[in-house]
Amino acid sequence: MVPDQKPLIYLNNAATSWPKPPRVLAAIAQSLSLPVFGSGRTTGTQGDDYLTLARDRLSMFLGGAPPEHLVFTHNATDSLNILISGFLAGKKEECHVLTTALDHNSVLRPLHEYEQQCRIRLDIIPFRDCSVSPDAVQASLKPDTCLVVMTHGSNVLGSVQDIRAIGEILHDHGIYFIVDGAQTAGHIPVDLKDLPVDAFVITGHKGLLGVPGIGGFFLRDPETIAPIRFGGTGTDSFSLLHPRGMPERFEIGTHNYPGLAALAAGVEFLNETGLATIMEKAEKQTLFLIRELKKEENIMIYDEHPDLPIIAFNIKGVQNDDVGFVLARGFNIIARTGLHCAPLLHKAIDGGEGCVRISPSWFTTDEECRLAADAIREIARNADSTVGQA
Ligand SMILES: Cc1ncc(COP(=O)(O)O)c(C=O)c1O
Repeated sequence: MVPDQKPLIYLNNAATSWPKPPRVLAAIAQSLSLPVFGSGRTTGTQGDDYLTLARDRLSMFLGGAPPEHLVFTHNATDSLNILISGFLAGKKEECHVLTTALDHNSVLRPLHEYEQQCRIRLDIIPFRDCSVSPDAVQASLKPDTCLVVMTHGSNVLGSVQDIRAIGEILHDHGIYFIVDGAQTAGHIPVDLKDLPVDAFVITGHKGLLGVPGIGGFFLRDPETIAPIRFGGTGTDSFSLLHPRGMPERFEIGTHNYPGLAALAAGVEFLNETGLATIMEKAEKQTLFLIRELKKEENIMIYDEHPDLPIIAFNIKGVQNDDVGFVLARGFNIIARTGLHCAPLLHKAIDGGEGCVRISPSWFTTDEECRLAADAIREIARNADSTVGQA
């Protein structure tokens, strides 16, 4: 309960975006209002084929990538597991794999599991000035490096990595490149036709404005990833072996139709609003928030020039959880505090204590940014009397 019922200000869009465009909610309701109809799966003449709609719309949005090379999964974590496990399934001998200190546990944990099983040797590429440079990647390569998995956009610092330059280096060495685009798809242009990446992972519930439970990946050459899950596809049903064609190779069981409908509507909203317009507003609000927070000497901002609408900070002398608590209880502002699933990054920036993250979206108003900045500055000014010292 919030004592004075201040209007809710949601600044946790890097975790999951909210609110959703009204058409996303309408699409979910519509998708459930009629029996599902999916080509090959369920006979019927009513309703929309949300699978094809979402695949076509998303592939256009991601630069015109071939739609059949876009695979739907449960989320970005699911996609990364399928790709990493499927790539390593094809390797007979232990090989060297790289990821970065910016990365999320969705990348770190699958890789550490394989390291524990002695299937890979894992090294972590450090970051400097909030980013992983192509030179740092080059310097970390070993003669038997077979795979690099890394984030496109940091979910804590908001920095976007130069995956084009990194991909060019890796491809010169014949090294496979999987990119985690959970934080970038829907925020910045991504042209998969053109980018030198082997696989690019997305999630539906963040910048693409869909709902949790739907994600996917783009895969350039299907033969490079062995399928690791098998089951019904609604196609070639006499065969007791799972189809190997795309995208059935990786899609199993009943699809998340409401999630697909929501994703298609989210992408339609982004197209109609225009990514350039969305980016312009995000940049303006992010710069405003950073400028305001910098007015208090005891606020430490970890990346003062983020490429994404993500601002990570701590207030000296106040635990980040306490800042989040006061923001929520005193101001009805939803931020995210703690480790943000990026343990190596936190070790580097805040000694593993964690930080406060605020992340506006297209739906955040300038007035909400002003109120949030005022609230954070007030907490900083009262830092001495705030409960809990860091
Ligand atoms: C960089 C990054 N990668 C992966 C994920 C996991 O995304 P999902 O919840 O779709 O599995 C997140 C979500 O927080 C993220 O920020």
